[in-house]
Amino acid sequence: MSKKKRPAGRRARRQSTPPAAAHQLYEASVAEGLEAIARREIAYTLGNKVTLKRPSAHDEPGIIRFTHSGSLYPMLRLKTVQAVFLVEHFAIPRPRALLGDAYFRRVQDTIAGIRRVHPDDAFQTLYLSAAGEASNVLQRFRKELARAVKLADRPDEGDLLLRLRPSAGPQGGWDMLYRISPRPLATRDWRVCNMEGALNATVAHAITLMTDPQPYDVYLNLACGSGTLLIERLACGPAQKVIGCDTDEEARHCAAANIAASEYSDRITLHDWDARQLDLPDASVDALTADLPFGHLVGSHAENVRLYPAVLQEAARVAKPGSLFALITHEINLTQKLLSEQSAWRLQAEQRIALGGLYPRIFVLQRT
Ligand SMILES: C[S@@+](CC[C@H](N)C(=O)[O-])C[C@H]1O[C@@H](n2cnc3c(N)ncnc32)[C@H](O)[C@@H]1O
Repeated sequence: MSKKKRPAGRRARRQSTPPAAAHQLYEASVAEGLEAIARREIAYTLGNKVTLKRPSAHDEPGIIRFTHSGSLYPMLRLKTVQAVFLVEHFAIPRPRALLGDAYFRRVQDTIAGIRRVHPDDAFQTLYLSAAGEASNVLQRFRKELARAVKLADRPDEGDLLLRLRPSAGPQGGWDMLYRISPRPLATRDWRVCNMEGALNATVAHAITLMTDPQPYDVYLNLACGSGTLLIERLACGPAQKVIGCDTDEEARHCAAANIAASEYSDRITLHDWDARQLDLPDASVDALTADLPFGHLVGSHAENVRLYPAVLQEAARVAKPGSLFALITHEINLTQKLLSEQSAWRLQAEQRIALGGLYPRIFVLQRT
């Protein structure tokens, strides 16, 4: 009997059964402050196969727990979530028990299930993070597991990321968390050019959702940098026009490279306009976003004192009445003061988020 060869290449083995345990527990990590928007996306994307755990005062910020009884594929499409982990409980007193045959096989099976929904070569390395990861037991477990699943064992980071922690519940035991993707979901395939101050794509996605995207939108991203808010706008759905502007040539090149690597290369136009002087008619834009210089890595506070009021004024000129403007900034006092001194924009919402050690805010404004 001749053995059938597996087709070569990066094709995912979609025909195989994913690890679809009924009501499997998962944890999604999101930027702190964006939990509500991510919960809505999870509920919408996973439909009737998901049950979100009720938020409680004891929840760790930035963590959303849910059970799901279907394939892993839809979870890989989540856009406001940084990473999804499958959570498996082990009723064991100590991690040493994981070296026992049955538990060891269970970990291997779960890993095999995750790998099945990705191309053959998606995972090359394994990293296990755990309190006491330097202990002899955990080192041995990690090495034996890496050998069994044929991945290179790495001491700092890996495509296959596992986390072992004591269970929080009253039943005790240990939880193994398996990241279901070889890279965080926040790492987008279109990101071929990075620039200092580029926005995390999951946060950009949430900001664009805050403009209530509609297919007829003329959407404008002021100071677009590497194009994150432009690409993520189209990832939310179609728009009539998507326009970005930035005064910095290098930033525009970076945006052009990212846009070319995205699915939306012919649907975004870039301009060298100054955000204080746009070549657009009055009341011509339906939705706006901006990630203006925070004054740390990009720009300075002194420049922002002049820049911000002029941008708010010019944005108000081009915005249609009722249009939404979502603006992320670390210049919180300045923005609050400017908003209190004008009447063109009404503050609809103000959301504090955690981002790379900073706590900027997203201001959602509506043109009066
Ligand atoms: C924080 S970065 C934007 C990063 C962007 N969201 C991304 O993901 O790459 C701020 C951008 O504002 C641009 N900028 C500063 N002043 C500007 C102005 N007056 N008009 C247009 N762009 C400006 C800078 O060149 C820089 O690219």
